[in-house]
This record gives sequence, structure tokens and C-alpha cells, in this order.
Amino acid sequence: MRTLEVDLGERSYPIFIGPRLIGDPARYRPYLAGTQVLIVTNETVGPLYLETVTHAFAGYRVESVVLPDGERYKTLEVWNQIFDALLSHRFGRDGTLIALGGGVVGDMAGFAAACYQRGVAFIQVPTTLLAQVDSSVGGKTGVNHRLGKNMIGAFHQPRAVIADTDTLRTLPDRELSAGLAEVIKYGLIQDPEFFDWLEQHMTELLARDTEALTYAIERSCRDKAEVVAADEREGGRRAILNLGHTFGHAIETGVGYGSWLHGEAVAAGMCLAAELSHRLGWLDAEALVRARRLVAAARLPVTPPAEIDPSRFLELMAVDKKVQAGRLRLVLLRGIGHAVVTADIPADALWATLEERGGA
Ligand code: NAD
Ligand code: GLY
Repeated sequence: MRTLEVDLGERSYPIFIGPRLIGDPARYRPYLAGTQVLIVTNETVGPLYLETVTHAFAGYRVESVVLPDGERYKTLEVWNQIFDALLSHRFGRDGTLIALGGGVVGDMAGFAAACYQRGVAFIQVPTTLLAQVDSSVGGKTGVNHRLGKNMIGAFHQPRAVIADTDTLRTLPDRELSAGLAEVIKYGLIQDPEFFDWLEQHMTELLARDTEALTYAIERSCRDKAEVVAADEREGGRRAILNLGHTFGHAIETGVGYGSWLHGEAVAAGMCLAAELSHRLGWLDAEALVRARRLVAAARLPVTPPAEIDPSRFLELMAVDKKVQAGRLRLVLLRGIGHAVVTADIPADALWATLEERGGA
């Protein structure tokens, strides 16, 4: 097992990465606030892992709530089911929520923990690659609104992140690739050495080689933890973690939540960001080719869906948490491993990038 730390002073917490973790009582116990535990999961992950996790809490008062599965259920209405469970089982402030699932469950359970009685403890138990490398770390929680992705939420850090690599064995191939989008993101924004490593090890990652996957999860979490420790609430630098996300969120909202996976939308969004950076003369042609090639090698889309035209794209992109004083801000690249956040975006270059769907 590898252990990393997210350094946030007295709210610091560990990230455990390795096999056979989810059924181990010792992983959880130091991080429980009291004796009541609510496991939040969904109808796909529950049948696979709920029993194992429940056993880890022998001697505690354990309840569970099983949500419907899918991005389209990441809504305030479904989120309310978590409060129905907490209140009907009379959970107090010393209860602990366990988020068992992918990023959708993690974001919803974390947001419920942020709000229940103004804030209770929670532990992230991510079971997708995407959640193990990104969404379980850093304390962003929330739900979607029909007009905008992740628009309602809170910062609320977990007490611990328990990333059991065995759970990835049951993950569908398409979901594995979606997680690789966020892994590639770390290489592109700040870790050129990792980008090189990914170019050399994509085949092993797609074949689910344990050593390669563990290394990629650890390196991604290390990169993310460092950014979060420096800028927990995204006053500045943390925004680079959103490379491709303004385009990606527009794709997810535009095609309807769940139709494109989050990681797929981010993949196409990162390629658009790279293309726009190239148009502005910030990213050379070779780097653009390498970025697109690595995304394609991970079996991810490099172009956005044709059904979203440039004007619709711009309309959707205007609903973004990085918009300041009505001005769009984007994360762009000045090289592989060097992301910048800018509001200085020539409208004609953006339009041309969207019109040619990043394919120029
Ligand atoms: P997801 O939670 O929908 O999970 C993907 C699918 O895999 C689901 O059908 C799920 O039930 C299933 N699944 C999960 N674990 C499994 C397993 N071990 N075996 C078999 N099936 C399994 O999607 P995701 O890609 O994990 O997360 C995407 C969500 O995360 C989006 O809503 C996105 O906005 C959010 N996100 C949040 C942050 C953050 O910082 N909070 C960062 C990135 C993404
Ligand atoms: N996924 C973006 C962030 O955590 O900031």
C-alpha cells in the first residue's frame, strides 16, 4: 500500500492506494467521527462492494443508501435521498458518510456531508480510475443543474481517501479510458516527465497492468495533492486542473448528461484547448500532435460532437465557474507540462477552433 498526504494543516488527510483496502477495518477506523456510518453507493457498485465494505464496520451502526446510477441522476432531487436516509436513521453530527463509487457518488455524498447539520465527516472510497486519480481528492463536491454542470456545490474535504486498486478489475473498458483522460491531464498541465511515461506505458495501462495503474494513480494523486495544498479553494493555480473542462462541460451539458462520459468530454476538451493554444502560437505543432496522439491512444475522442455548433458551444461555455465579470477564462498550454489560465482569448481564434472542431 502507498500512502500520500494532502497537506491542509489541521485538515490534512491521507490517500491510501493499493489492493485489498476496502474490506479492512483499520483503514477506516481512525477517520470515523463516531459510531454511526452511512455508506452511500449506487445500484451498480452496491451489488459488487457494499457487503465487503459493510463488514469493515462490524460493531458500528451501519446504514446504506443506494442511489440510481448515472450522471443524469447527479441532481438535487436524487441527492435528497441521502438526507432521507440520514434523518430517518437519526444520524447525529458525529455520523460519518462513506462515498463508495465513482465521481458521481463521491461528489453527491461529499456535498451531503458538507450540508448535513452544517457539515459532517466523510471518507472517499473511489472505485473508478477517474475517481481514484481526481474526484476523490481535493474536496470539490456538488451536483449538476440542467443549465450547467457541477453548478451547485461546496468545498468539503474528506477525512481520508481509500483507493482500492482491486475494484478497477470490474470497471468497464470505456470507464477505464475515461479515467485516463484525467491522468493525461496531469502530464499536460504540469508534469512533462509523467507525460513521457504515459506515452511509453499506455498499452500496459489499457491492459490493466497492476504496477502501471498503481504508478499512474499515485503520480496523479501526488500532482493533484500538491496543487490543492497550494490553492485549496481555487483562488488561482488550482484552476489549471480544469484543462479541457470548460469545453468538456459544454459537451456534457450540450449532448445531455451521461451521453458522453465526463472523461470523454474532458479528452475532446483538452484537444480543443491544445488546438487553440497552437493557433495562438503558444504550443508548437509537435506538442499538439503528441497531445492528440496520447488522447487517441487512450481510446478517447479527440474531436467534440458535430451536433454542437460554435455558437451553441459559446453559449454553453458562458456557464462556467471560471467566468469572471462576464469574461470567459480558459486553461491553455504554453508547452507540454505548462498550463496557464487566461482571459485573453481572441474571439476569432476560439471561433475557428470550434468551427473546425479542433481538426485544423
Ligand atoms: P461515475 O461515478 O458515473 O462512474 C462511472 C460508471 O462506473 C458508473 O456507471 C458507475 O456505477 C460504475 N462503476 C463505478 N465503480 C465501478 C467498479 N469498480 N466496477 C464497475 N463499475 C463501476 O463516473 P466517474 O467517471 O467516476 O466520475 C465522473 C464524475 O466525477 C462527474 O460527475 C464529474 O463531474 C465528477 N468529477 C468531480 C471532480 C471533483 O474534483 N470533485 C473531478 C473530476 C470529476
Ligand atoms: N477537478 C478539478 C479540481 O479538483 O479542481
